[in-house]
Amino acid sequence: MSYIKVDSLTKQFKSQIRRTGSMSAFKDFIAPRHELKDAVKDVSFTIDKGEIVGYIGPNGAGKSTTIKMMVGILVPTSGSVEIGGIVPYENRLANSRKIGVVFGQRTQLWWDIPVIETFKLMQYIYDIPDRQFETNIRQFADILGIDEFVNTPVRQLSLGQRMRADLCAALLHNPEIVYLDEPTIGLDVDVKERVRGFIKEINRTRETTVILTTHDTADLDKLCSRVMVIDRGSMMYDGELSYLKRNYSSHEIVTVEIESELPERMLRARFGSAVTLDGRLCHVRVDRERESSADCIAWFIHNSRVLDVKIRETDIDEVIRNMYGTFKNAERESEAEAQ
Ligand SMILES: Nc1ncnc2c1ncn2[C@@H]1O[C@H](COP(=O)(O)OP(=O)(O)O)[C@@H](O)[C@H]1O
Ligand SMILES: [Mg+2]
Repeated sequence: MSYIKVDSLTKQFKSQIRRTGSMSAFKDFIAPRHELKDAVKDVSFTIDKGEIVGYIGPNGAGKSTTIKMMVGILVPTSGSVEIGGIVPYENRLANSRKIGVVFGQRTQLWWDIPVIETFKLMQYIYDIPDRQFETNIRQFADILGIDEFVNTPVRQLSLGQRMRADLCAALLHNPEIVYLDEPTIGLDVDVKERVRGFIKEINRTRETTVILTTHDTADLDKLCSRVMVIDRGSMMYDGELSYLKRNYSSHEIVTVEIESELPERMLRARFGSAVTLDGRLCHVRVDRERESSADCIAWFIHNSRVLDVKIRETDIDEVIRNMYGTFKNAERESEAEAQ
C-alpha cells in the first residue's frame, strides 16, 4: 500500500484583476474584482515509503503549494492528501511529528542563539528522548561536519553552515518524511556534496521518504531516480529521470583541456561554431541528435595530447523546456490534423 496518496489535488487562490485606463487604481480600490486561479490543478500521485522523489518545474508552477498542502499548512480546494493514514490539514500535530521540513531560502533556527541550543529546543518541542537525541547529533554532526560551529550563534553562520544546521535540526525527531525545498541553492560545491551525502545516508539507513524540490541537475542525478514535473499547476510527467534526460536533453557541453593550443582553423573545420576557445580549454556544444560526446573526445585524443575531459549535461530547466516544446508541437500537429 502506498505511503503517500495524493488524489485530484486542487488549490485555487483568489487574485485581484487589475483594471487599466483612467482612474484604474481608484476603481480597483473601491470595487476590487477577483478571479480564481488554479495554483495546483487535479494533481494525483502516490509515493512509497523510502522513496526519494524529485519535484521539479519552473517558478510559479505550484511546487510549494503542493508541499504546503502535504505539510498541512494549506487546505485543498478539492481533492485529498493522505500521509501514512493521516490527513495533514485535518491533523497538523500528528502530521508534524512524522515530517521534517527544510526551505533553502529560509531558516527555522533561532537567529540569536547558538546552534546547539536550537537543537535542544527541538528536543524539547518534539519531546525527543535523550538517547535518540545524542545518537542523532553524533551521527548528523559527523556526516554534515557541524562540530566546529555548534556553539556559534546562527546569525554568524555562513549560508552553507546554516543549511547544514537546518538539515540537522529538521531530522532530530526521526521524521518518516522530509520535504526539502531547494536545499542546495546558493551553496558551494563541497557543501552541496555534503548535503547530498547526508540526504542519501538518512534515506538508506532509516528508510526516510524524501521529497525534493530543486533546479540543480546534480541533486537529481545523485539522489532521485524518479521525478515529477509540474507546470502551471498540472502534472506533466511522473517517471524515470533517465528517460526524461535521454529524450529531452538536446546537447551536452564537452570541455577538453589540451597540452598545447590547436590552430583555430583546424578546430573550426571540425566543429564550426559549436566550439568555444579558452586557451588550452576547448568547449564543444555537442548536439546529441547528430553526434556523440565520445566521437568529439576521440577527435581531440587523435589530434592533441588531452589532459582532462569534462562533460556537462543539459540542465534540468532546459530539459523541461524541451519537453514543453515537444508537447506544444504535438498539440499543434494534432490541431492541424483536426482542421
Ligand atoms: N498565498 C497565495 N495567494 C495567492 N496566490 C498564490 C499564493 N501562493 C502561491 N500563489 C500562486 O500560485 C502559483 C504557484 O505558486 P508556488 O506553489 O509557490 O510555485 P513554485 O513553488 O512552483 O514556484 C503562483 O502563480 C503563485 O503566484
Ligand atoms: Mg516554491
